[in-house]
Amino acid sequence: MSGKLYIKTHGCQMNEYDSSKMADVLAASHGLELTTNEADADVILINTCSIREKAQEKVFSQLGRWKELKQAKPALVIGVGGCVASQEGAAIVKRAPYVDLVFGPQTLHRLPQMIEMRRSTQRPQVDISFPEIEKFDHLPEPRKEGPAAFVSIMEGCSKYCSYCVVPYTRGEEISRPFDDVIAEIAALADQGVREITLLGQNVNAWRGPTHDGAIVDLGVLIHAIDQLDGIGRIRFMTSHPLEFSDSLIEAYANVPKLANYLHLPVQSGSDRVLKAMKRGYTRAWFLDKVAMARKKIPNLSISSDLIVAFPGETEEEFAESLQLIEDARFDFLFSFLYSARPGTVAAEMQPVANAVAKARLMRLFDLQAGIQAERMQAFMGTTAEVLVDGRDERGEPVPAGQHRYHGRDRHWKTVVFTSPVPLEIGSLAEVKIDHASPHQLKGSLVVSAATTPCRTPVAKTALPLA
Ligand code: 5AD
Ligand code: SF4
Repeated sequence: MSGKLYIKTHGCQMNEYDSSKMADVLAASHGLELTTNEADADVILINTCSIREKAQEKVFSQLGRWKELKQAKPALVIGVGGCVASQEGAAIVKRAPYVDLVFGPQTLHRLPQMIEMRRSTQRPQVDISFPEIEKFDHLPEPRKEGPAAFVSIMEGCSKYCSYCVVPYTRGEEISRPFDDVIAEIAALADQGVREITLLGQNVNAWRGPTHDGAIVDLGVLIHAIDQLDGIGRIRFMTSHPLEFSDSLIEAYANVPKLANYLHLPVQSGSDRVLKAMKRGYTRAWFLDKVAMARKKIPNLSISSDLIVAFPGETEEEFAESLQLIEDARFDFLFSFLYSARPGTVAAEMQPVANAVAKARLMRLFDLQAGIQAERMQAFMGTTAEVLVDGRDERGEPVPAGQHRYHGRDRHWKTVVFTSPVPLEIGSLAEVKIDHASPHQLKGSLVVSAATTPCRTPVAKTALPLA
């Protein structure tokens, strides 16, 4: 069978990763090609994440619109994947009988068989089991076009924070074996990938079995990736502060390819709220961890997540979150309004009034905007190592005789820069920063009189420095 596949994705990077794997599996099994037009598609999938939003209603209203497509084209296959599928299971088919497939994050590799079963039995297929790590064994070889790729190294989470649905929708933590991860990254490097982001809900908890029966941790994995030819930069996310261990801090010191970037979600600045969230640390402990990481890892950029208006959060407790933000000075902060997730412990607690919650979020945005602007300003006049991601055609015209590119530096900041010579996508360029706005840095390539175009993708100084 050949045909077209349309995937609608809502949610985090793990979900984006899962969607790209769905496309890979169905390209390999059924020759399906991705389309951006749902009306053209033979298979339509929706892959949602319910971590912060009431995704259920979104899914059903989307399905309502797709019902018409199905009436026009009865052979159309409609599938629901991701966390909503995990939570609702067969109830989806009950409520929307025109849905053909319901699959969870751990069963997406079974999509080809599910499609076949649907066709042969004429019955909707529901598989939302957690067959451990089987998923990764049944995925085709990774394919990648850009120079940066995400690699999921573990699934699920066993932390059970009181507000969070992930342990229920993605299951308990389970790590992919060491050799599989290395093989996937080596294959990506062969295809021109230069930057790898290791993904997991609680990635520091990764403990991978090796072929000789040992169990190794994330620090060891990072050292091994460092040895792979072609990979020039490594990142990992998301880290739980409790598991951000000394061995990981050491890895930064010993592996220059490890980017100067750490995502360390704090969630609240109040000890009482942290306890109610079951985070397992206090505000002072978190700030110590940040101070230690900054001391041991020069020029470290840190981002964090923070939840506003957790049930029962008082004005004073919110003020403690503001104070923590002042103290920690994050480079980026992802802040979220608390949202009750069915089945979690916090969903039973008394919520904060919506208007109060929203007003708090605005105050937090204002405070962080100033801090972020200040953190970006600190990069003025520095030289950034930028992984060239693509040509930048937007905005002002490019000056004659120049080329303009965008990419990310070692701090995961977006950098737009001009170059007098054409550069290869995927090369690392040294860029002098001469402009900083809250969301991006701008600059120009560091060149000498004897400039030659970038040819060596991973050489740190692909160009002679001035
Ligand atoms: N409400 C609001 N934010 C949440 N997050 C997780 N669960 C919830 C919830 N119920 C946020 C946390 C987490 C990020 C991925 O999403 O900050 O770190
Ligand atoms: Fe959810 Fe907590 Fe696990 Fe993060 S660590 S995925 S917030 S349960």
